[in-house]
Amino acid sequence: MKSQFTNEIFPRPEDFRWWERGIIYQIYPRSFKDGNGDGIGDLSGVREKLDYLQWLGVDAVWISPIFPSPMADFGYDVSNYTDIDPIFGTLAEFDALLAEVHRRGMKLLLDYVPNHTSDQHPWFIDARSSRMSAKRDWYIWRDPAPDGGPPNNWRANFGGAAWAWDENTEQYYYHAFLKEQPDLNWRNPQVQHAMLEVLRFWLQRGVDGFRVDVMHHLLKDTDFRDNPPNPDWHPGMSPYRELLTTYTADLPEVQEIVALMRGVLDEYDDRMLVGEIYLPVERLMAYYGASGRGAHLPFNFQLIRLAWNAKEIAEAVERYEALLPSYAWPNWVLGNHDKPRIATRAGAAQARVAAMLLLTLRGTPTMYYGDEIGMHDVPIAPDQVQDPFEKNVPGLGLGRDPVRTPMQWSSGQWAEFSTVRPWLPVADDYRNANVELERKDASSLLSLYRRLIELRRAERALSVGDYAALPAGEDLVAYMRKAGSRRILIVLNFGARPRRFNLNELEAQAVLLLSTYLDRERKKLAAELQLRPDEGVNVELS
Ligand code: NOJ
Repeated sequence: MKSQFTNEIFPRPEDFRWWERGIIYQIYPRSFKDGNGDGIGDLSGVREKLDYLQWLGVDAVWISPIFPSPMADFGYDVSNYTDIDPIFGTLAEFDALLAEVHRRGMKLLLDYVPNHTSDQHPWFIDARSSRMSAKRDWYIWRDPAPDGGPPNNWRANFGGAAWAWDENTEQYYYHAFLKEQPDLNWRNPQVQHAMLEVLRFWLQRGVDGFRVDVMHHLLKDTDFRDNPPNPDWHPGMSPYRELLTTYTADLPEVQEIVALMRGVLDEYDDRMLVGEIYLPVERLMAYYGASGRGAHLPFNFQLIRLAWNAKEIAEAVERYEALLPSYAWPNWVLGNHDKPRIATRAGAAQARVAAMLLLTLRGTPTMYYGDEIGMHDVPIAPDQVQDPFEKNVPGLGLGRDPVRTPMQWSSGQWAEFSTVRPWLPVADDYRNANVELERKDASSLLSLYRRLIELRRAERALSVGDYAALPAGEDLVAYMRKAGSRRILIVLNFGARPRRFNLNELEAQAVLLLSTYLDRERKKLAAELQLRPDEGVNVELS
């Protein structure tokens, strides 16, 4: 049979780098494990659970922001980039955590939030103290429009205008998110210098890289032109999306800033940058930089954004593979702290198929804590809402608390996340879905994740091999991964009906390696592969 494998023309070096071979696991630190009994997760909690992460088999841990912050946006409003918030611990505790991560052969990524600071950051306090402040131009200030209102129509992601009036100095400042998160002026070389020094501070301490918050937002139009209306907007969507972001995001010059960051990373050995960028895949490619001198990985969020069906997913994988330049390494993300969880989007049965998809596609997989035990979005009562997005734009389902609930470690009180009531409610079903229980159950989702990770680590074809799509019938997605003579076939049934896949054309002996049901393996297959509803399989071909 004919197939077009990726990367055959441009073979990659034999020694793949850790962030190419490996699996990234995102920890939302407030919700992973509370080590000091205050109901909020922290660094000592993360350290306690490193055994678990090692057992699971992930290679790198990315921790959402842990720096001093007034927590208006739960750490994405940083008031000091080079320390640890007391809620999470101390610098000494951070060093201890990093040492423990490294001792286990794992890597640690921090969250770098360069687009905005907290309004309590000393830079902003200085900047807003007077128009003459030496830090004034570190932020984006504008006079009012002739009518006294905001200077243009730009909107904030979390609702309302992106301009906040400063009474004292009688100008507006720009904030892409909350008014407590003023945007830095990255056109100012002093800002560039100060913020690049932040990277060096952590790199010198030994961190292995950064996830970069809203990388595409860093520069805005110097003429401050109005953003045009979005023709696809309809009521029920976030009011922010009523306008396109033509003049506030993804400006071509932003690549120069990305290259500056990359330059700093390259001063050190083997570190990496992953950019948080919500853009259509066509526009994402630019963030790899010219000849790959930009972000090592621009996050690919298609599995989060697309409707969960075989056709959409197969087309998206194909399109992405086709767009990737020869020097670019792919990546896939199934969930994060901002978007609905996979078990909610796709349902419990398909969450297993999703696990197999994530861990068998070509490219670095990023997992979100709790998805491996099937955590779903937890309904949050109005009086329990924490997220400023939900508070500012209520009722549209935009709030992110449901995906940030405490990790479920056991059937004990508070799911053994904490010894006291946690900052967000624990899911009602935690007694049926938790690490302790699922570790003992050989057919659980957690066991499936572990088996898939184990297989990916053992099989070069899966971790770094080439990829080729295969034709497949309704509801099915099929592809082959290959390294040398080793070939692994993946067939996934996205539907609730049994399906068949013809193996004849592959002209090979087929042995089933793993089913998402975890009840059949090492089985020689006949000419036709039978798939049960919501079943995915890995098949060895020889
Ligand atoms: C993206 C982060 O993922 C999100 O949680 C945060 O609120 C915004 N950026 C602002 O930093």
